[in-house]
Order: sequence, then C-alpha cells, then structure tokens
Amino acid sequence: MKILITGGLGFIGSHTIVELMQAGYEPIIIDDLSNSEPFMLDNIQKITGQKPKCYLYDACDKDRVRNVFAENTDIKAVIHFAAKKAVGESMKQPLAYYRTNLVSLLTVLDLMQEFKVGNIVFASSATVYGEPEKLPVTEEMPLQKSLSSYGSTKQMAEDILEKTTANHWLKAILLRFFNPVGAHHTALLGELPNGVPNNLMPYVTQTASGIRKELTINGNDYSTPDGTCVRDYIHVVDLAKAHVKAIDRLLKTAETPVCEVFNIGTGAGISVLEMVETFEKVNNIKIPYRVGPRRAGDAESIYASCEKANKILGWKAELSLADMVRDSWNWEKYLKDRKE
Ligand code: UD1
Repeated sequence: MKILITGGLGFIGSHTIVELMQAGYEPIIIDDLSNSEPFMLDNIQKITGQKPKCYLYDACDKDRVRNVFAENTDIKAVIHFAAKKAVGESMKQPLAYYRTNLVSLLTVLDLMQEFKVGNIVFASSATVYGEPEKLPVTEEMPLQKSLSSYGSTKQMAEDILEKTTANHWLKAILLRFFNPVGAHHTALLGELPNGVPNNLMPYVTQTASGIRKELTINGNDYSTPDGTCVRDYIHVVDLAKAHVKAIDRLLKTAETPVCEVFNIGTGAGISVLEMVETFEKVNNIKIPYRVGPRRAGDAESIYASCEKANKILGWKAELSLADMVRDSWNWEKYLKDRKE
C-alpha cells in the first residue's frame, strides 16, 4: 500500500519511512531538503535495502505535488510532516511560518480531495497545550492561546483538519508529539539542526563533540524537584512507530471516528539536569554547562498522558532515556566522522 509522506527526509520523517517500509508499506517521499540532506535517502536504503521513491519538491508547490498524485494513482494515505519548526525563528518570521505550514497543508488537502485520497496523519505538537493547568496532559484538555507563530500554525492546522473531516470525505489522525530525541540505532539517521540548535538534545550532543563550548541550562529556579524545566522526551523510533499504528488504524480498522487526536510521549517527566546527567553517565562523557536565565515562553513542566494512544492505537513507547542519549550521541559521532 502506497503512503505519501511530505517532509519524509526530515528527522521524524526519515525514521517513519524506515518503519513503514519494515511494516510492508510503500512510502513515497516529497521533501525540499530545507532541513535535510540527500545522504539521508541513501542511508534509508542502507537500513532497509530499498530506495523509496523520492521527489525533491516543495510541498507548497501545487503543480509539482499534483504530478506526484497523478503519477502514483493508488496512494492510500498521506502523512504530512513538511513544515518549519523553530519556535524562535517563527517569532521573527511569522509570515514565513504561516505560509509554509498552512499552505503546504492546504495544498495536500486540496489534492487529496481531487485524487480521492481519504486518509491523513498530521504531525502536531505538544506546543498546542501551552503551559498546562494539570499534569499529565490529556487530549481533552483545553488548548491555550499560542505564544509563538509556530504553535499557532499547529493549532490552526488541527482546526482545519477537524472542520474538513466533518464533511466526511476525509479521515484524520492528529499526533501531538512531545519532545522527540534519539536517532536510529544504526546511527544512519538522526536530526540535522539548521545552524545553532535551539533544542536541548542537539545542543548537548554538539557540546559533547566540541562544536559548542558549553551548554546553558535555561533557568534552575522553577518549582520542579531540581529547579530545571520538565519535559516528556520520546525516542524518535518510538514516535515513528506511532505513525505506522496510525496508518494501520486508518486503513485497516472500520468505523473509526473521522478525526482523532493522540498524545505521543512516554508519560515520564524528565528535567533538563536529569537529561544532562543521564547523557554524561550513559556515554561516559562530561558536558560543560552553566546555568543561565530562564528562556522566554518556556513552560515549567509538561508531560503526556499516553493512555489514549495505548488503548486505541495499541501503541506505547518502548525505548528508555538511556537509549535516547546513547543513540543521539552515536549519531553526532557519525556526523563528525562523515565530515572528516
Ligand atoms: C520546543 C518547542 C516545541 C517543539 C519542540 C521540538 C518551545 C516553547 N517549544 O519544545 O514547540 O515541538 O521544541 O522541536 O520552544 N534547554 C536548555 N538549554 C538549551 C536548550 C534547551 O536548558 O540549550 C531547555 C529548555 O529551556 C527547555 C528544555 O531544555 O526547558 C527543552 O527544550 P527544547 O528541546 O527546546 O524543547 P521544548 O522547548 O520543550
């Protein structure tokens, strides 16, 4: 069964491609390489033994994306990852975020309707919850007005999908990712941050490899056990597997609701300091760090209730924090070796 994946060479997309292929699906990739590199496609082939069909197109380019649908007439579902994802950048360039993230979704939906493809899995984010009033966060909790344009695009996209599915030609599963980290255990796939990383894990691995001098911990005066922010880090391979479960549900389960939302995390709250200390211990390497001021817009604590995904999708995160820090570090070392 053919599945179209926009952003299929990105961090989460590439891992999802591998899991889909290993589950017997035939993925077709659209990616403009805005946050990836061509070697990711070669590495997918190294892992799976097959090179998936890949179109180096911008998902907002309707004429080109139409050609992909026209050439592959029996696409059964779409997984839509293609989007800009840096929160800080989204505040400086809001229009670029609204344009890319919303136009790509609308383009894909228009063409799905035109070509009668009735199933979509959408990459949403825990960012839609803002600073939650209760923990762990469940899917029913009210969303808060987003602080960033990136977050607004995810909320708007969810709204677009909810309203569109109400007309019953489309079924959607919205996956709200918590904090994706880790890399493929072969160290052939992982995250390729554009410039100086904003996210914790790539900053930690780049500090460990000497690209960055020291890590700054953004505040240690929060009301958490050690004063640093708490997040729900999830291994990217577990996250990729959730997409296979979502596709299985859309294509193989009759009579499901037209639009469903699932949290995809581990359910465990891990502090920044705990993450850094686990990285040091598992990889036997020191991370030089200092404590700096709080980062504007950071929620103090957020972690998921994953009961709904567990019960309905039959999915549960399996990999541990030790797996996440080990695989992230192996990937960083692979990148270093590639450059040398
Ligand atoms: C961020 C985005 C979220 C996005 C996710 C994955 C915000 C508010 N949210 O989540 O929408 O889906 O990335 O791309 O930006 N930290 C440090 N030092 C660093 C980097 C991070 O202490 O150098 C801390 C942060 O302050 C935070 C924690 O580590 O407390 C996790 O940060 P990060 O990895 O950026 O993820 P989120 O902010 O949770």
